[in-house]
Order: sequence, then C-alpha cells, then structure tokens
Amino acid sequence: MNRSTLADSMTTDISSLRERYTKGTLDECNLPVNPVHLFRNWFDDAIQAGIHEPNAMALATVDAGCNPNVRYVLMKGLSEASIRFFTNYESRKATEIEANPTVSVLFWWGELERQVRIRGSVKRISEAESETYFNSRPAESQIGAWASPQSSEVKNREELESRFQETKEKFADGNIPKPPFWGGYEILFSSMEFWQGRPGRMHDRVEFILQNGEWTRRRLAP
Ligand SMILES: Cc1cc2nc3c(=O)[nH]c(=O)nc-3n(C[C@H](O)[C@H](O)[C@H](O)COP(=O)(O)O)c2cc1C
Repeated sequence: MNRSTLADSMTTDISSLRERYTKGTLDECNLPVNPVHLFRNWFDDAIQAGIHEPNAMALATVDAGCNPNVRYVLMKGLSEASIRFFTNYESRKATEIEANPTVSVLFWWGELERQVRIRGSVKRISEAESETYFNSRPAESQIGAWASPQSSEVKNREELESRFQETKEKFADGNIPKPPFWGGYEILFSSMEFWQGRPGRMHDRVEFILQNGEWTRRRLAP
C-alpha cells in the first residue's frame, strides 16, 4: 500500500487526536523529599484507578553500538533503592544490559494522565531471590521460561509448541526448577521524573536526582 492509499483508507485523522489533561496537579509544597514515596503513592493510585497492568513499564536499553531498544516488562518489586523485573538472561535486553547497564524505564498511567520516567543502573539479583520468585509462578509460565529461547529466531510456531510440550513432559512430576538462564534484575535508581498532564500543554514536571545518597529536585518546563 503506498502513502496515498494508506491515508485514503483511514477513517480517523491522526493529527486531530488530542486530549486536554485536567485530572491533577503536581505542587512542590506537597512533594516528599524521597521520590520513591511519591512513586509508591502514584502506583497505588494506578491500582485504585483499575489501570490494566499498572506495573507494566517500557524498558529502554542501549547496545554496545549505542543503538537503542525498548520493550515492556513487568515491575515485580519496589524498594527504597530499586525496582526489579524478571527475564531471560540470554535475551536481547540482557545482552544489551551486560554491554551497558544504564537503562531507563517509563510508566504511563493514562487514566490518571501521569507518566514516570526512571533511570538507573542494573544488576542481577541473587539466584536465591530469583528462585523464590520463579517458584511462585504458575506452572505454565515456568514451562514457558524453559521452552522459549527468548529473542532467538525460531523456525515457526510449531517449533515453539513442541518445545513447550517436550518441557512439560520432562517435568511431568510437577517439580520445575528455575532455568539457569532466567532470573531477576534490579534497577538502582539514579533519577526519577514525575509528569502530570495539565491543560494547554503546560504540564507539571518534577525531576529528582540522586547524588551522594541525597535526592535533590527541580521543576522542568513541559
Ligand atoms: C505488558 C507486557 C509485559 C511484559 N513483561 C515482560 C517481563 O516481565 N519479562 C520479559 O522478559 N518480557 C516481558 N514482556 C515481553 C517483552 O516486551 C519482550 O518482547 C521480550 O522480553 C523480549 O525482549 P528483548 O528481545 O528485547 O529481550 C512483556 C510484554 C508486554 C507487552
């Protein structure tokens, strides 16, 4: 389909799509010193608002050649110092993290007109912690972790299905150990930016930066 036929076939003028943001404000006088507390409050608000997968975050990595990649992962833990997620240690994202451990993640809670951007440095969590989480997963997800050589090329869907079936048979006794190539990462915070949509594109943005163990903050223009 060329450019003009694609445009002709569309029923919606994309350039006319816009929202006026009115759901909240971000006032300095109400902000905690520690942004992790604000993040926790916003995350709880996202759960209360019934947002689908409120813990989904876009994770941006950069490979050794400085080429960026982004994909969603699920936040599976939050502490004063870090957030964590789980994945395949042989995946593309893992390879990129090994080459450059600085990453950025982004949450978008549309119903609340809020965005949070986090930057940090990534390290693997302990095998014991990964095992504890792996053991809490449904059996089919555990089998899937074994069966999928994440980010590698596979011939077709059938290959994946048969790998799943073989793994299921291999662990038919129901005792499924954590694969050695699967586990958690934690992103140790270095900055956190909160964005609240406002009318007239005059949004509120406050960025917190961690330096020598102390958080400082500043307002940014939208
Ligand atoms: C909402 C959502 C949540 C996801 N959560 C995870 C996750 O927690 N871990 C993961 O490895 N992949 C997750 N994925 C799949 C990734 O987006 C991605 O396709 C996969 O990890 C391979 O990425 P890579 O090739 O860049 O390593 C999720 C996808 C979506 C849409």
